[in-house]
Amino acid sequence: MKRVVVVGTQWGDEGKGKITDYLAQKADIVVRYQGGNNAGHTVVIDGKKYSLHLLPSGILNPKIDNVMANGMVINPKAFIAETEKLSNFKLHVSDRAHIVLPYHLELDKAYEQNKGDEKIGTTHKGIGPTYTDKSARLGIRVSTFIHPERFKSRLKELILFKNQELTHYGKEPIDFDQVYHEFSSYADVMRPYVKDTSYFLNQAIEASKKILFEGAQGVLLCLDHGTYPYVTSSSPTASSVPLNTGIAPWLIDGAIGVTKAYTTRVGSGPMPSEIHGDLAVHIRTVGNEFGTTTGRPRRIGWLDTVVLKHTKRVSGLSYLAVTLLDVLTGIPELKIAVSYNFNGEVIDRIPADIEDFMACTPNYITMPGWTEDITQVKSYDELPFNTKKYLEKLCALVGVPLGIFSVGPDRNQTIMVQSFFED
Ligand code: GDP
Ligand code: IMO
Ligand code: MG
Repeated sequence: MKRVVVVGTQWGDEGKGKITDYLAQKADIVVRYQGGNNAGHTVVIDGKKYSLHLLPSGILNPKIDNVMANGMVINPKAFIAETEKLSNFKLHVSDRAHIVLPYHLELDKAYEQNKGDEKIGTTHKGIGPTYTDKSARLGIRVSTFIHPERFKSRLKELILFKNQELTHYGKEPIDFDQVYHEFSSYADVMRPYVKDTSYFLNQAIEASKKILFEGAQGVLLCLDHGTYPYVTSSSPTASSVPLNTGIAPWLIDGAIGVTKAYTTRVGSGPMPSEIHGDLAVHIRTVGNEFGTTTGRPRRIGWLDTVVLKHTKRVSGLSYLAVTLLDVLTGIPELKIAVSYNFNGEVIDRIPADIEDFMACTPNYITMPGWTEDITQVKSYDELPFNTKKYLEKLCALVGVPLGIFSVGPDRNQTIMVQSFFED
């Protein structure tokens, strides 16, 4: 496999950043293909922790190229903040990606306040309003943003219009001069990185380069295939890669589904295998399950293979990368959701309507846990018997082979079961 997609199979925070960084060591290029700084990808190298929001998780490998593709929405202020913290990287920003502006952040908050109890629980990073503007042909592309005169006139026109919407929601109007001056200085920093990244990637493909496409969020947060309306505004699926990067669909060789050994979710919306009480607190504490972007405590649940099979269908999965296995150590019995009860039927799919999904109750199987410390394990064979059984069962239920497993946050706590990117 030369061109591989890293996909989050659940509701995000599966450890995509860690797996991407690990695989990037053998790749030539890492491409982020959707989302914006709603993402929070944690990479730990020799005990040092890096939190990435916008930059691809290959950025810590100085030799490789990193691409922010056309499917992304980029907040220039966040872009500057993140690039300033790093040195020695190779970065290419798509001239067709869209820009997140201050009114998008304000509107994100306004829509959420307006929804009251029905709120999505967004990250307030302006992601939904920016993609809405893109679809409504009211967005600003990077190519316009880095062109001072064109940016000025486009922004002036749009701010007039957006301020009407902001005042409708009781928000302060945005000051054109202030935003223009502030953002022009960000454009100056971004300009040298900007190019036609589709052209760049197609040339790299012709040169047989090894490319990793890094998804943000998870498939259950996909605008089309997720738990709508409690989703984000882009598609993390492998099938969205060609559109969001500008390459042909048949150039994708496979997808690695990053799967947390249990389930977490941040924000509102149904999660059938959710657990509460002491066990949820225990898993949240051991797994440090607090959002990288917002610091919110993550909701905790048992592993749900109905969710994983849904992801396999709508995205395609060649291998699983199972992460945070070490967090389950010491729990006597582990449950796995294998089907749902819905309207008197047993189903293994996710109903489209959110009310129907909320009515689903899971059926579980129970697996014995393990007590051995697995954080220093270096091969599959070294795993305790019950950990192997848990992994085998999970892969058999989903029908996807194990490719990688992970026993701690550090880069060196990652174990390959299959080899990727071999010549
Ligand atoms: P992403 O959004 O999918 O990149 O995932 P996040 O970085 O938001 O959340 C995953 C969290 O789990 C981060 O804090 C990682 O450092 C951590 N992590 C990743 N893999 C492992 C693992 O195998 N064990 C443990 N204990 N932590 C892990
Ligand atoms: P990574 O890449 C987990 C969730 C938000 C909210 C919904 C919509 O780190 O896995 P948005 O701000 O995108 O409009 O919010 O999506 N969400 C995530 N949850 N991990 C993420 O990214 C997320 N990005 C967005 O909590 O429920
Ligand atoms: Mg995350």
